[in-house]
Amino acid sequence: HRMVSSPYRPLLPFKLFVIPSLKSFVISLVSLYFAAHFLAYLYSVFAILEEKRTLEKKELYDGPLVLNDKYKNVLYGRKINGVYTNVGVMNTALLYDKPKKDGKDKVPSIPDKFYESLFSSAHSILSRQSGKKRDERFVYFTFVNDAYSLMTMNWLCNVDAFEGILNRSVIATSSSTLCTAIKKEYSKVDCIKLSLPSSFSSSLDWGKKEYIQWLIMRASILRRMVRSSIPFVLFETDAVWFRDPSSLFEQASKIDDVDIKVPVKGYTGRGQSLSFDPMLVYPTNGSKILLEEMNKRLTMNSSLYDQDILDELCRAQFNGVVCRTFEWKDIADGKWFKLSESERSRYAPFIVNNNYYVGVKNKMTRQAMNHMWLLNPKSNSCSAVRRRKMFEENEALSSLKPKEEVLKSKSIIDSVAVL
Ligand SMILES: *[C@@H]1O[C@H](CO)[C@@H](O)[C@H](O)[C@H]1NC(C)=O
Ligand SMILES: *[C@@H]1O[C@H](CO)[C@@H](O)[C@H](O)[C@H]1NC(C)=O
Ligand SMILES: *[C@@H]1O[C@H](CO)[C@@H](O)[C@H](O)[C@H]1NC(C)=O
Repeated sequence: HRMVSSPYRPLLPFKLFVIPSLKSFVISLVSLYFAAHFLAYLYSVFAILEEKRTLEKKELYDGPLVLNDKYKNVLYGRKINGVYTNVGVMNTALLYDKPKKDGKDKVPSIPDKFYESLFSSAHSILSRQSGKKRDERFVYFTFVNDAYSLMTMNWLCNVDAFEGILNRSVIATSSSTLCTAIKKEYSKVDCIKLSLPSSFSSSLDWGKKEYIQWLIMRASILRRMVRSSIPFVLFETDAVWFRDPSSLFEQASKIDDVDIKVPVKGYTGRGQSLSFDPMLVYPTNGSKILLEEMNKRLTMNSSLYDQDILDELCRAQFNGVVCRTFEWKDIADGKWFKLSESERSRYAPFIVNNNYYVGVKNKMTRQAMNHMWLLNPKSNSCSAVRRRKMFEENEALSSLKPKEEVLKSKSIIDSVAVL
């Protein structure tokens, strides 16, 4: 008969563990300490990666104007390094600066003098359009900071090819360098300087305090414009204008009532369906109420973005506001850049927004790679040759297919919610 050992008998003498020497006790304590530290470190790394992943989703937003990558004051006198090379180093601030919720930081107040200049400029532009019907008059308006200087110069070079855009444009900027450059090279354009703390001229990252404050300032400028009965088209300079879109804006209210008209997103099913710009705004009761409400919500809750609010108010037809949309084939967005040549040939957009892409430098690289960077690399002066090539290339693309086929071809753009 075999002996079966008791299952409860410890395999090793228990006392070895019970009475450790002081030395091994300290050693195990120290190694435990380091192990805990290592685990905490691993945790923090993953926490940051997770946060970064969430932030990357924000690329799906139209980045309004000021996403930056430590890129500033390079308008004149310096070589622009990195226009053609995608450095693509993520600004680490993006990982840590989450939208502030305390709302304690005061948004800089915009002086009356700024508004006086803006209104006088806008009314002068409107009065010069007295030959046009009432609904066909408007002002092109944008609000940019230093980080967007070169982008803005590129846009100016782009649309200088069309008549009747620059002499209807008002550019508000916190950059005096940019204003000086505009006045020198494009005297038709009205540039209005808004003095802001230097934190606004350098780097504004998505979600950063200054970024949110920038949106709030922009929304309050738009509100003041409708209050002053100024019809306008809010645009951003990181877009390529292949054709003069003026007729698109002038005809906007031909068929239907409209308070506000904006483009649709190429990617749908990810929340919003409306883009923020170019945004055509008639100074109607509807748009007044919408912009008042947008300002109210923006200032009340600093984790909200203007686009979210616009989307929500339009969708809900807030107080009867009528939001209409431009067709994607007329005003395309960043999705266009991801299409193949043959896919692109199905469309002949007036404007292509360079969005779904973070960082001014990256956007500039993207435009350069698509032959849409029009400034001479060394001097940053406008190159008429580059511009002609860009238009020619685009026309050649559009003529790849006969027009009827363009119309018949099944849209590759997801159907969008019609408001
Ligand atoms: C802008 O210039 C064009 C071409 O010279 C002219 O027809 C148009 O009336 C001008 N518009 C304004 C608002 O000055
Ligand atoms: C706009 O609102 C004002 C004041 O509330 C009102 O007098 C006017 O009739 C409204 N206009 C339209 C077109 O509804
Ligand atoms: C602010 O907006 C965010 C995002 O919509 C929401 O989750 C949050 O509850 C809002 N906060 C307040 C105080 O309304």
